[in-house]
Amino acid sequence: MLQVKDLHKSFKTGDGNVNAIDGVSFSVPDGQFASIIGKSGSGKSTLLSLLGALDKPTSGSIVVGEKDIVKLHDHTLIKYRCEKIGFVFQNYNLVPNLSAIENVVLPMEFAGVSKTKRLVRAKELLNQVGLEGGKQNRKPGRLSGGEQQRVAIARALANHPSLILADEPTGNLDNQTGKLIFDLLHNLSRTEKTTIVVVTHDLDIAGKTDVTFRLSDGKLVKNGAK
Ligand SMILES: Nc1ncnc2c1ncn2[C@@H]1O[C@H](COP(=O)(O)OP(=O)(O)OP(=O)(O)O)[C@@H](O)[C@H]1O
Ligand SMILES: [Mg+2]
Repeated sequence: MLQVKDLHKSFKTGDGNVNAIDGVSFSVPDGQFASIIGKSGSGKSTLLSLLGALDKPTSGSIVVGEKDIVKLHDHTLIKYRCEKIGFVFQNYNLVPNLSAIENVVLPMEFAGVSKTKRLVRAKELLNQVGLEGGKQNRKPGRLSGGEQQRVAIARALANHPSLILADEPTGNLDNQTGKLIFDLLHNLSRTEKTTIVVVTHDLDIAGKTDVTFRLSDGKLVKNGAK
């Protein structure tokens, strides 16, 4: 269970404080597929980075399983992120001088998976997201935006995370490939009980998830039930 309580995040800027997340509470049970929608600037990416412990909230709590991740210390956090969370960034954040397959291998290297095992899994994941053959050996700069996006998704799945957080994971994909990725995530939520939170602008996708949250100016205006 992911439980968010009265979460606030403000940024100091030249012209005062921006309340990017302004008192958000919700929960997502294990194995549920949730979507977050909202206009540009409404706080979606900020919320996702708080959930992924990539940034600290100004106040509030985020309980994953039993742990309040806001209270974890740096070294525990790094381990937690590596083992439990798969994060797909809005701008992919692939390592530019590593090939597609090396990018997918990297988190498994951090987690101590053996060399042969991690290569086999990386290939399998890239095949699953539809990036096959020679493209697996190309560096991100020689792949299209949608292909890079799929490498980022494969990388997020590498360590069998119990929580996948994905910022617009189908934003750069054609309908058919977008559906492939959606089905892949949907399957994970059903077969592995992976909890999935995706940010999306695609209302078709949002409509197919178990639950949809809408953000507006950092506040939750639609909570849960459709
Ligand atoms: N580091 C920062 N410093 C100052 N303001 C920030 C920072 N990060 C985000 N913001 C502000 O917080 C608000 C929410 O930003 P966020 O990136 O979460 O929006 P978003 O919903 O993901 O938008 P988009 O759909 O365009 O990706 C915006 O007003 C943004 O300008
Ligand atoms: Mg964003």
